[in-house]
Amino acid sequence: MSKKGMFISFEGCEGAGKTTVIEHLYEKMVEKGYRVMKTREPGGIDISEQIRTIILHPGHKEMDSRTEALLYAAARRQHLVEKVIPALEDGCHVLCDRFIDSSLAYQGAARGIGIEDVLAVNEFAIGPYMPDGTIYIDILPETGLTRIFKNKDREINRLDNETIHFHQRVHEAYQNLQERYPERIHKINGEQSLDNVILDAERYLNSILSGE
Ligand code: TMP
Repeated sequence: MSKKGMFISFEGCEGAGKTTVIEHLYEKMVEKGYRVMKTREPGGIDISEQIRTIILHPGHKEMDSRTEALLYAAARRQHLVEKVIPALEDGCHVLCDRFIDSSLAYQGAARGIGIEDVLAVNEFAIGPYMPDGTIYIDILPETGLTRIFKNKDREINRLDNETIHFHQRVHEAYQNLQERYPERIHKINGEQSLDNVILDAERYLNSILSGE
């Protein structure tokens, strides 16, 4: 495996502000002269965006949990092979809005499939391409959901409409994942001002890029 760019994923409950933080970090990296790409999951390329539409359609209430886990893993595989790996191999850093930890938290824990089974499916999907670093923006599900339901421009998807208990299980799972992978997952307080979230994220990103 020849991998030259850094692969950074961003995680958190709904409304944590990941997308805004990625946008700011991306601009700052471009200003500093880094080659960098931002992308998202599920999606980022045509096939995976189509899978995203199927998974998140509010009308697909009958979707089975394992079907959901497999569709996320399929979207992940295609996005990785078609977009992320070529960029990394070309020396470009990749900022990815969600990756494997989302499946472990949402499908493994909150849907109740089990972390280990979902991990196995995802290891099959991604091979050796675990992120080099993960920024987890920690926010209470109550805060995040209030934010997204206030934001009229944001589409409300099938998972947003899950119960508060579902989102609390996601939140708890993220805490456990951070304890399981402390070297990789860096937790940031998402309840502080956006400026401070961005500052914390930038500090961590700089430490990864400088190999500290
Ligand atoms: P987004 O709102 O951050 O774009 O993510 C779409 C939804 O998909 C969000 O509710 C989290 C969920 N999701 C999973 O359940 N498993 C996954 O593997 C991924 C990538 C997202």
